[in-house]
Amino acid sequence: MNKRKIGILVSGRGSNLQAIIDCILKGDLPLEIAAVISDKSDAPALERAAKAKIAGFTVNRREYSSKEEFEAKINAILTEAGCELVVLAGFMRILSATFVNRWQHKIINIHPALLPSFPGLDAQKQAVTYGVKISGCTVHFVDEGTDSGPIILQKTVPVLDGDTEDTLAARILEQEHKALPAALKLWAENKLTIEGRCVKILA
Ligand code: GRF
Repeated sequence: MNKRKIGILVSGRGSNLQAIIDCILKGDLPLEIAAVISDKSDAPALERAAKAKIAGFTVNRREYSSKEEFEAKINAILTEAGCELVVLAGFMRILSATFVNRWQHKIINIHPALLPSFPGLDAQKQAVTYGVKISGCTVHFVDEGTDSGPIILQKTVPVLDGDTEDTLAARILEQEHKALPAALKLWAENKLTIEGRCVKILA
């Protein structure tokens, strides 16, 4: 049976991309990554894609006169590659409502905090500064807001005395690498249904 195709948008390190690649290679995730798209040509994530023989593309915002044209290019790559789902794995740009609506309920993001707490940038720093005792990560469908879409999975970690943004980020990242492939597996197996802003996981 043909595996469903996904596209992954990245901007940097690509450790979440790597976690997905590793799960696919182990046979744990019945999906094919048909395209990795980066807005930065020097993103290490693109090297990870190349090493795994996955098609990688750079779409540099500065080469497009408008956000609309920039996103149209991303959309064209995803569509031509036959992607049914878009995964944001450290993609550091906010997508427009037009793009999000084109891919309604077909974009999944990983965020390094327990949403709805600490959306946006520097989530781990926000958690340390606030003084919460538990944080974690959230995998969610993307809607028009920032980190506000229906939640698929969350994983928790303790926030320890003496944690810095970096030590907490490292602890959360370990859980991200489990949560994102797990959520994608549920999607691949058609086990996710969205009711309002709630995601139900079918048995
Ligand atoms: C992760 O912490 C993710 O939650 C956030 O950006 C970071 C990306 O890390 N959205 P990586 O590029 O996957 O290593």
